[in-house]
Amino acid sequence: MIKSKHLLGIKELSPEEINLILDTASGFKDVLGRDIKKVPPLRGKTMVSLFFEPSTRTRTSFTLAAKRLSADVVNFSVPTSSVVKGETLKDTALTIQALGADYVVIRHSSAGVPHFLSSILNSSIINAGDGTNEHPTQALLDLFTMRAHKKNIKGLNVAIIGDIAHSRVAKSNIYALTKLGANVSVICPPTLEPVGIGKLGIKVFNSVEQGIKNADVVMTLRLQLERQNKGFLPSLEEYFKLYGLTTERLKMAKDDAIVMHPGPMNRGVEIESEVADGPRSVILEQVTNGLAVRMAVLYLLAGAKK
Ligand code: CP
Repeated sequence: MIKSKHLLGIKELSPEEINLILDTASGFKDVLGRDIKKVPPLRGKTMVSLFFEPSTRTRTSFTLAAKRLSADVVNFSVPTSSVVKGETLKDTALTIQALGADYVVIRHSSAGVPHFLSSILNSSIINAGDGTNEHPTQALLDLFTMRAHKKNIKGLNVAIIGDIAHSRVAKSNIYALTKLGANVSVICPPTLEPVGIGKLGIKVFNSVEQGIKNADVVMTLRLQLERQNKGFLPSLEEYFKLYGLTTERLKMAKDDAIVMHPGPMNRGVEIESEVADGPRSVILEQVTNGLAVRMAVLYLLAGAKK
C-alpha cells in the first residue's frame, strides 16, 4: 500500500512503494492491450489537471489514464481562466476543490507548489513537474521502461546526459534509480552541474565519451532553456558538438544499450535524428508506458492510507 494520498516526489517514496507502482502498472499495461480498455475503479471520482506550464505527454496521458479508470476529467485551461484576472494559486486551488476534485494534477514553474497545495487541500495532489525540483511520474515510467528491457533495475548502469542543473526529470530519475540500486552517471557541461550533486551517490562526468562507457541505458535530456539564465553555454551548436548523442558516441555504451529521452526532443541539439529514430531508441515506448504508470498512480493513491 502507498502511505500518502499525494505523489509529491520520488524523494518521499520508499523502494517498496516504487516497486508496487511499477508492478501495478504492469497489470494496467495488460488491460490497455485488451479490446475494451476501460475499467471501473475510479467511477464517481474527479481528476482536475492544473497545468501552469505547457505539456503534451504528461497532460494527455493523465487525462487518458483517468478516463480508462472511469473517472471524470477536467482539464483546467490557465490562459482562459480567472488566473489572468489575478486570482491567486491558492484561491484557484480552493475553487477547484469546492467543485469536488478528488485529484489535482499540478504542473508549475515554481518548485514546491505541489507540496503547498497538499498542505491546503483535501484532494490528492499529484506532482506533474514543479520547476527544477521533481517530475515523479516521468521517472516512474522511465523505470518501468528500463525494467521492461533490462529486467532488473538493481546493478543497471544508467547514464543521464544533459542539463542536470535545471532538469526535474534528472532529479526524479536519480532518486528513483539510486533507491532501487542502479549505478547512475550524469554527464553535463561544468556550468550545468548542480552544486552537491556528487553527494547523491552518483558519478559525475563532463565528457560523454567517458560517462557512457559500459552504460545499459543512455538517457539524454532537453536543455531547459526556459529555466536558464544566459551564459551557461556558448551556443546550441557547440553543445551538440560536445554533448549531443550521436551514433558515433553511442558506440561507447554497451552494444545492447537502450536510448531514452523524456521528450519533447530538440533534434540536432541534444540528440541526432538517426539515434532518436534508430533501433535502440525506446522514446515512444516511454510515452506509451506513461499511460499504464499514471493509471497505477491514480489507482494506488485512491487506496492510500488516510
Ligand atoms: N516529458 C514530459 O513531461 O513531456 P511534456 O512536457 O510533453 O508533458
